[in-house]
Amino acid sequence: MATKEIIMSTTKLNKSFGVTHAVINLDITIEKGDIMGLVGENGAGKSTLIKILGGEYYLDSGQITYQNKIISWNSSAEALKKGIAIVHQHPLLVFSLNAAENIFLGKEFTQGIFLDEKKSIEESKKLVKQYPIYPELDLEKPVIEMSAGEKEVVEILKALSYNPKILILDEPTASLPKDEAESLLKLLVDLNRKKEMTMIYISHKLEETFEICNKITVMRNGENIGMLTNEHFDKNKLVKMMINQDISEFYPEKSSQIGKVLLEANHINSKVLKDVSIHVHEGEIVGLYGLIGAGMTELVESIYGLQPFQSGEIIFNQKKILHPHVDMMVHHGIYLIPADRHQYGLFPSFSVSENITIAHLFSLFPEFLLTRYKENQVATKEAEQMNLKYADINQSIKELSGGNQQKVIVARWLLKECNVLIVDDPTVGIDIGAKRDIYRILRELNSHHKGIIFISSEINEIIGMADRIYTMRRGIITAELPKDEINQENILKNIL
Ligand SMILES: Nc1ncnc2c1ncn2[C@@H]1O[C@H](COP(=O)(O)OP(=O)(O)O)[C@@H](O)[C@H]1O
Ligand SMILES: [Mg+2]
Repeated sequence: MATKEIIMSTTKLNKSFGVTHAVINLDITIEKGDIMGLVGENGAGKSTLIKILGGEYYLDSGQITYQNKIISWNSSAEALKKGIAIVHQHPLLVFSLNAAENIFLGKEFTQGIFLDEKKSIEESKKLVKQYPIYPELDLEKPVIEMSAGEKEVVEILKALSYNPKILILDEPTASLPKDEAESLLKLLVDLNRKKEMTMIYISHKLEETFEICNKITVMRNGENIGMLTNEHFDKNKLVKMMINQDISEFYPEKSSQIGKVLLEANHINSKVLKDVSIHVHEGEIVGLYGLIGAGMTELVESIYGLQPFQSGEIIFNQKKILHPHVDMMVHHGIYLIPADRHQYGLFPSFSVSENITIAHLFSLFPEFLLTRYKENQVATKEAEQMNLKYADINQSIKELSGGNQQKVIVARWLLKECNVLIVDDPTVGIDIGAKRDIYRILRELNSHHKGIIFISSEINEIIGMADRIYTMRRGIITAELPKDEINQENILKNIL
């Protein structure tokens, strides 16, 4: 078999930010026509690496060879001109301009000394037609009014407008709706085949990388851990490389100390729920599993007083809660982390430290003399325990990755005297390392006798995490599976 031509390679790349060694002695080789997947936990160094390759960051040491020449980019514009285009994780767009203007920013069409706006719209239309990821895209709409998915499409079209030799995509499908994500994957494969466009593809969704990549490189803590070619793709192997742990150790051990009943909901009837009864014990994770719309979220929101129910009762520690209501629940130490964490769980204008300590300010610091120093001390200890990736405890929570934000929300309750924690799909969309940390934190809550009600949309997760499972279908509890009856078959037969 003919060996392919090497288009780009690196030797011993290093890049640090202060004390963070983001990329360490990294060697990679990319052959012409590759779609190379790049995977790793959040904070592994993937984005930093591709920004070095694209001239956005200077390297500290090491060497990049591109098209048989050792290069050192002076700017990203130079790398772009030489054929390396990046689709960023967070699109770098000018929000006040429209889509077409963004796509042709820096290479505007002019007529005499004037900008030719008509021409840029026309050319953008051609691009949309040529690359039909989202054919309905309104090119004259200001970017500020666009959804995250639309912005992503503009970012992708902008990169493609340079007709790059190497197209680098940093989690491009994270904010795309399903149909657009599928169109994008198809388009990438097509571009790769027809134009021999080389690509580096970063994603948390391993299935996607299996689908389109011919090789996958794994990074962990800044290092290149290894590369698998498509004939050797194997999810367990990849995950093991990513987290340095066997997949069987991915879920912590199940509970061995289940105590008395903490919280019960009996015979709940509402618009959605029909005679639903569940309970959770001390030290137990109870799973709720069903298809979307089967009533799991409605059930926990009813228990929590967020949705009305016509009949039924909520009992905590053998006492009936007369009027279930959020304040009453918090008073009893019952907390809900809803599915939409960004709407409810975070205090976006606060720092990492403040977000960790916010639930317990008064119990931690009854003297009311809350000093920043003390607060940071407590928060730093907690952050360490939850393996949080952050630069500075006083930095804004918004700068953290989704997975790390979620860890903050879940771990908050480690400090607080909570009795029951209800989590609604807590690991959706976060990376594998953050998932593992959240599982560990939940089990730690268990070991402090707390009860957990866990809704998950992932069957493997509910099997791996729950000590007991209620399955649901159309507002009804269809089965209660004890530990030794938890398996895929029993679950599926009760939810479909
Ligand atoms: N501009 C920056 N300033 C300081 N630290 C950074 C910066 N960019 C990345 N880091 C740190 O470098 C490490 C690698 O980050 P990153 O390359 O974004 O990882 P990934 O893309 O794999 O999630 C992380 O610890 C991150 O906090
Ligand atoms: Mg990244």
